Amino acid sequence: MDFSLSEEHLMIRDAARDFAKQEILPSVIERDNKQEFPKEIVKKMGELGFLGMMVDPKYGGGGMDTISYAIVVEELSKVDASCSVIVSVNNSLVCYGLDAYGNEAQKEKYLTKLATGEHLGAFCLSEPEAGSDATSQKTTAIDKGDHYVLNGTKNWITNGGSADTYLVIAQTDRDKGHRGINAFIVEKGWEGFEIGPKEDKLGIRSSDTHTLNFNDVKVPKENRIGDDGFGFKFAMKTLSGGRIGIAAQALGIAGGAYEMARDYSKIRKAFGTEICNHQAIAFKLADMHTEIEAARYLVYKSAWDKDNGNNYDMSSAMAKLKASKVAMDVTVEAVQVHGGNGFVKEYHVERLMRDAKITQIYEGTSEIQKIVISRGLLKD
Ligand code: CAA
Ligand code: FAD
Repeated sequence: MDFSLSEEHLMIRDAARDFAKQEILPSVIERDNKQEFPKEIVKKMGELGFLGMMVDPKYGGGGMDTISYAIVVEELSKVDASCSVIVSVNNSLVCYGLDAYGNEAQKEKYLTKLATGEHLGAFCLSEPEAGSDATSQKTTAIDKGDHYVLNGTKNWITNGGSADTYLVIAQTDRDKGHRGINAFIVEKGWEGFEIGPKEDKLGIRSSDTHTLNFNDVKVPKENRIGDDGFGFKFAMKTLSGGRIGIAAQALGIAGGAYEMARDYSKIRKAFGTEICNHQAIAFKLADMHTEIEAARYLVYKSAWDKDNGNNYDMSSAMAKLKASKVAMDVTVEAVQVHGGNGFVKEYHVERLMRDAKITQIYEGTSEIQKIVISRGLLKD
């Protein structure tokens, strides 16, 4: 067993850390206030190879392992979870989905542009009446021979307004239940594809979340991913990897808040001494750091499972369940350590606290992770 990161992992970590500090930090508060999508930053992240990290180099990707990817998401999230969710969705839901399950023509046409950052992707599973209950898809795709006709509404779609390529899950045969669901590649601008207004959110405010409407959108048959009826399994398998990304995001949010609380406690004085000398504050730091380390091992273990060909459905659910709880707890404590300063935007921790909450909701709520974990435990 080896708990140390390789030289390569450390280099990737430093690159992501420097990028976050130099390129993301200066505009983070303003973008959060204005709910402004970080278009220029996304372009730079594409140039650095952060948008297709695990994709085969043949298709423009970095050919890196999942641990490298988790490290990058973690480092970006210490500074801005809006930027890291863009990276997470593009890498682990869109690029991975196409790399693992797309055919050669689909990869050539779509994956290379997505992996290099020339295009951005979105993953469209959730609907107004099908969130946690993802098999209850109301969006339909009717087979018309050489194409499908897509109708319905997807909501909460990350990168919804900014993406070029959308992976859309839809019911093709209701009688077959989840075996009658398929996944399709849909391009922005196709007739009948409308992007609704941007959501006004509690956290990750500069990420771009939209409702999407599909009104008789013609989708060529060659844009279906996998065999007929593979769509629900496609979504589930892809989401297992996505959950590693969101767990890494939660880990980074917690880590960023902890580092700020630690540093602040060493300079802020009360009762004639730095507040870190009060045991109540020192113990908070001890608890925060211990919980973050515990979460980190679950996140890296799940990434390692994926890299080593092990099943990672359960380990990714455990990593996300734990890391998102840690993100919530640690950010609340980080605000407390900052006192009144924790309650204002200038000190960042209030934003990290707002951003932490989403990690317990998207890519499967904490309750859904417990369903996945308990079913995995009881399977045999
Ligand atoms: N891999 C392969 N197949 C899987 C699977 C997996 N990980 N999980 C389930 N399946 C298969 C099952 O084997 C079953 O197929 P068979 O009948 O052929 O065996 C089929 O899928 C249906 O599975 P269940 O009976 O377990 O389905 P369920 O209705 O009980 O739901 C669930 C299972 C885990 C709750 C699922 O609905 C779920 O994950 N819900 C949460 C949805 C979610 O995470 N949404 C995230 C949207 S994307 C997003 O949020 C992005 C973002 O924010 C940035
Ligand atoms: P519901 O399913 O209505 O759940 C409500 C509550 O009931 C939750 O607490 C839930 O845990 C609980 N619950 C439901 N069923 C059970 C059960 N069986 N047992 C116990 N408790 C249960 N989706 C996408 O497809 N793509 C995206 O890019 C995307 N990005 C998102 C970005 C943001 C900012 C947000 C807020 C959401 C995003 N989502 C996306 C949707 C997200 O995945 C869903 O919100 C999430 O899966 C929960 O679904 P829901 O909102 O319908 O809640």
